[in-house]
Amino acid sequence: MAQRNQIKLGFLGFGEVASTLSEGLLSRGVQVSTCLEGRSQRSVELAKSTGVDVFDSLTELVESSDILLSVVVPAEGVSVAAKVGGGGFDGVYVDLNNVSPGTVKEAFSHITNGKTVDGAIMGGIKNGLGTPIIASGEFAADFAELNQYGMNIEVIGTEPGQASGLKMLRSAYTKGVSALLFETLYPAYKMGVDEVLLRYLNQTEGPHFKEASISRLKSSALHAQRRAQEMSEVHQFLSQYEDPVITPATEEFFHNLLDKIGQIPEKPADYREIFDKIDEKMTRRPDFQKVGINK
Ligand SMILES: NC(=O)c1ccc[n+]([C@@H]2O[C@H](COP(=O)([O-])OP(=O)(O)OC[C@H]3O[C@@H](n4cnc5c(N)ncnc54)[C@H](OP(=O)(O)O)[C@@H]3O)[C@@H](O)[C@H]2O)c1
Repeated sequence: MAQRNQIKLGFLGFGEVASTLSEGLLSRGVQVSTCLEGRSQRSVELAKSTGVDVFDSLTELVESSDILLSVVVPAEGVSVAAKVGGGGFDGVYVDLNNVSPGTVKEAFSHITNGKTVDGAIMGGIKNGLGTPIIASGEFAADFAELNQYGMNIEVIGTEPGQASGLKMLRSAYTKGVSALLFETLYPAYKMGVDEVLLRYLNQTEGPHFKEASISRLKSSALHAQRRAQEMSEVHQFLSQYEDPVITPATEEFFHNLLDKIGQIPEKPADYREIFDKIDEKMTRRPDFQKVGINK
């Protein structure tokens, strides 16, 4: 028999985030459901293999949920909120999409009766239920109740926009560093001193720097397109506060990287493979001056 106070969680969108969180939450007794109306075969399969309850309509999902988590694609965060709408939903509505504070507020303008919470996933969800999530807004603590079921939610403020904004600031920093790593390590590779540069940087930047840098280079290459788009949003966001210089350059850097290496299918085993691809493209340029020891 179902427990009287069993928490009912509804997912809007059922991709990687929803399926990963569902697995952990179901095993801890949370009642998890979604609606697959209009969804692709991939989402249908994910929901089936995870074993969540599936409602035929969005209305039924909304009516039966205490908490709704919006985990669609960033471009659909507002339209999904508009579909949920004012109506009778007076539960907790959490937007976990990678969007700017402005977009979060636009989405929330549609949820007139719900208790809205701005949330941001801080890292890859592959790490499971314990992946750090930050939350802000008047009702963020209601969302953080899910910590008793193994989630890792930190309430960072009372205003909507603080969580999504903080995630953007973190992105500006991490992607900016990644771009700078490329810009310095590639010439070092051409000069035959990339290993030495990494060793010296490790001395100033601390342990694990080399390992973390190599991982960043590889994932930057794999996700160049997504990073370029993300930096465009971050650029707009920062422009509300200051005249950003590094972030627009990072945006341009990722566009250029994509242009040089194309969309690669998977993470390269060695970062030098990326540099070799860049090299191929560079050497074909009419203005290219051949320098370096490696090439
Ligand atoms: N994955 C991560 O590690 C991670 C980390 C941080 C933040 N995020 C954010 O979390 C969100 C979800 O990410 P994800 O990796 O789970 O994405 P995903 O695997 O691409 O899944 C997106 C889900 O949203 C559905 N969807 C798309 N448009 C919709 C709409 N209009 N109405 C309802 N559902 C819709 C998709 O359905 P279809 O199958 O029909 O396309 C799919 O089920 C994104 O905003 C992302 O930026 C993800």
